[in-house]
Amino acid sequence: MIILGIETSCDETSVSVLKDGSILSNIVYTQLEHLEYGGVVPEIASRDHLRKLPYVFDSAIFQAGIKLNEIDGIAVTYGPGLVGSLLTGLSYAKGLSFALGVPLIPVNHIEAHLLSPFIEKKFPGDKFLALVVSGGHTELYMVNGIGHYELLGATLDDACGEAFDKVAKLIGIGYPGGPAIEKWAKKAEKSDFSFPVPDPPGLDFSYSGLKTAVLYAYRKLSVVERVEKIPEISLAFMRAAIEGLMKKLIRARDETGIDTIAISGGVSANTYLQKRVREEFKKVYFPPKGFTSDNAGMIAFTGYLRFSGMPGDLYVRADPNAELWKT
Ligand code: KG4
Ligand code: ZN
Repeated sequence: MIILGIETSCDETSVSVLKDGSILSNIVYTQLEHLEYGGVVPEIASRDHLRKLPYVFDSAIFQAGIKLNEIDGIAVTYGPGLVGSLLTGLSYAKGLSFALGVPLIPVNHIEAHLLSPFIEKKFPGDKFLALVVSGGHTELYMVNGIGHYELLGATLDDACGEAFDKVAKLIGIGYPGGPAIEKWAKKAEKSDFSFPVPDPPGLDFSYSGLKTAVLYAYRKLSVVERVEKIPEISLAFMRAAIEGLMKKLIRARDETGIDTIAISGGVSANTYLQKRVREEFKKVYFPPKGFTSDNAGMIAFTGYLRFSGMPGDLYVRADPNAELWKT
């Protein structure tokens, strides 16, 4: 069975071809137009998707070496995300689905991140914890099989990746902030800065306090120090941000007795997070390389797992605030 995946929920234009659960191609175009603004500009994003999607689609088909009439279903992100961006991918997918006479499979972007660690891997038989941690989301779920997700905790303010992006912007090291902060943090062996590890009650997360603490510390520095101390600030911030995640993961493990965890989303590429999670949990799943940030491979994969052979839904609407299915 061949499933085509399309992802345009934010600033990545991506198309993937999946055959019987294996990735044949996963083309990701990251929009660079937002760099000068230090964040994603929705109107620019949707216009750029519109321009690039046909080329990304052609590349994915070419690299997979398939013919269009071999496609059995079109999986596409319907939400959550930026409404204009979602609409470009969804409209393209509807057109394809109609023209090829194959079902349209609407996919929730968060579910696709959550399932991405299992691309070309065996799905766990027992319950497990799942942390989706990206630029837009910081959510912890208990998973009791595909489609059975219980939300345990979520961010009360900023998403973890968003805090990385905002701190990177503050200290002037570029966008996206996560990889930049990790790169600079590696240049420091230790840090004289000490930022509070966020720990709101229960299993929820919070990043606004940490972000403000970095801002106040930064304001006290001289112009020269602001440059010299970039590695130390990066290291102290990264440690506090990741330890904030770890507190909740450890608490969830202790409360539920579940020692298996799947971590996904852009921030799951962070090597300090990967190391800490491996230290604390018995069984750990991360997405394969190239599948942590937004990509259509995870959309095709989720569509494949969810595809029931039904005619699909050509009337599905883009939903910027789509919630992950709960049972
Ligand atoms: O999953 P993703 O591509 O998009 C969303 O759905 O939001 O995640 C992007 C986020 C950005 O905030 C970026 O700064 C963060 O993931 N990120 C990282 C790293 N690589 C990407 N954060 C920390 N460490 C990294 N190595
Ligand atoms: Zn995402």
